[in-house]
Amino acid sequence: MAKFSDIKGFVFDLDGVITDTSVFHSQAWHQVADKVGAPWSKELEDGLKGISRMDSLEMILKAGNVSDKYTDDEKVDLATEKNTNYLKLVDQMTPDNILPGIKEFLDDLKSNGYLISLASASKNAPKVLSKLQLADYFPEIVDPKSLSKGKPDPEIYLKGAELINLNPEQCIGVEDAAAGVESINAANETSIGIGDPQVLSAADVKFNDTSEMTLANIKNQMD
Ligand code: BG6
Ligand code: MG
Repeated sequence: MAKFSDIKGFVFDLDGVITDTSVFHSQAWHQVADKVGAPWSKELEDGLKGISRMDSLEMILKAGNVSDKYTDDEKVDLATEKNTNYLKLVDQMTPDNILPGIKEFLDDLKSNGYLISLASASKNAPKVLSKLQLADYFPEIVDPKSLSKGKPDPEIYLKGAELINLNPEQCIGVEDAAAGVESINAANETSIGIGDPQVLSAADVKFNDTSEMTLANIKNQMD
């Protein structure tokens, strides 16, 4: 693991880290799972976190053993329906949906001169950030359309570092998903996992929830 003093920037996941939207994604996917007759479980719910829209749909169809039952067009329709339902939930969001301590942490990063970028798989990230009134903190956002592979591949976290002109070793990546932690680790960045420590066992630094994530607490676990 890098030394805390080497760290110059933070690359953030969005859903489940900055805001509670992972619950909205789960709710909308659960509806799709019910529709296609796939069993919903905590494992499936956790496994979907961080995974792109179409890959998530494929995981659900696979869980229901119905991958071959739908044509490509029908799959696009199912994913679009999920996104429409998800966006209805996003429309009601306000800055109250920012997870505890995140605004303070971002302010602390800015005032201490750390660079910040966003590495979210979500095509809705700019919209969500604007609902949260946090867009100004994230001038650099990886465009998920530019990726050849999603999380757990390192590409998205490597691009997150590149956008702020840092080497991966100078960056900390922040995630709530096992696939995301894997992506950060494979990119050679220091990983913070927020949530169930068993699900996120591969993370270098672990917190149970966002309110525990402060520069002092990170330094404590790194040095
Ligand atoms: C990730 C979420 O951030 O974005 C996933 O954790 C979601 O649940 C993925 O599937 C893609 O998001 P979207 O908004 O483009 O469908
Ligand atoms: Mg996430």
